[in-house]
Amino acid sequence: ALKAVIFDLDGVLADTAVLHRAAWQRLAAEIDAPFDEAIAERMKGVDRMGSLEILLERAPRRYSDAEKAELAARKNARYVELIDRLDPRHLLPGARAAVESVHAAGLKTALASASRNAPQLLERLGIAGLFDYVVDAGRIARSKPDPEIFLAAAAGLGLAPADCLGVEDAAAGIASIHAAGMAAIGVGRADALADADVLLSNIAAFDIDRITTTSGPSAR
Ligand code: G6P
Ligand code: MG
Repeated sequence: ALKAVIFDLDGVLADTAVLHRAAWQRLAAEIDAPFDEAIAERMKGVDRMGSLEILLERAPRRYSDAEKAELAARKNARYVELIDRLDPRHLLPGARAAVESVHAAGLKTALASASRNAPQLLERLGIAGLFDYVVDAGRIARSKPDPEIFLAAAAGLGLAPADCLGVEDAAAGIASIHAAGMAAIGVGRADALADADVLLSNIAAFDIDRITTTSGPSAR
């Protein structure tokens, strides 16, 4: 039976996918690497170094590990500058209500964000207290689409993966949820999220009562 909902953060609860994108785009321009919509979409849900590797695939030269560390740090410094200005108004419409509705339905909540900035972001957005468990992204070795982060969320809640449901805006995230043995709710564009078990156009459409009756592991 469904006992918990595990949320992604960037692009699901907060409109930060655009901020990650802006910081990467600026870095791309500095190193003369091409940057487009497809690259930005592939970076969603992928950890910092994994995202950098995607950017560098088409860079005009190769970079050493030390240089890569510098590039990633440069991107992160800009991203941190952008999220330092955020407040609860930057939650996506319906995000707080979605998480609260899960508790109201008697289920637990967890956060499975690959972002090492997630704890600060939760504070800024005023929703840090809404989660029963927040995965420490710094302790996750394998980026989405690997199931590690969603399995860690279930373990942190003390639940079996089959009793959890994941909510994601990225193709890599949907794959991670499924690999963990959970049902997946996709939030966003159908073309990027074709594999989701349930597709919502945004988090405001999240309805826990419909989900408990129409989804969950039994639906898969
Ligand atoms: C999320 C975002 C990715 C980002 C990753 C790491 O998964 O969707 O775009 O690369 O977090 O974020 P960080 O804040 O640790 O660089
Ligand atoms: Mg995301």
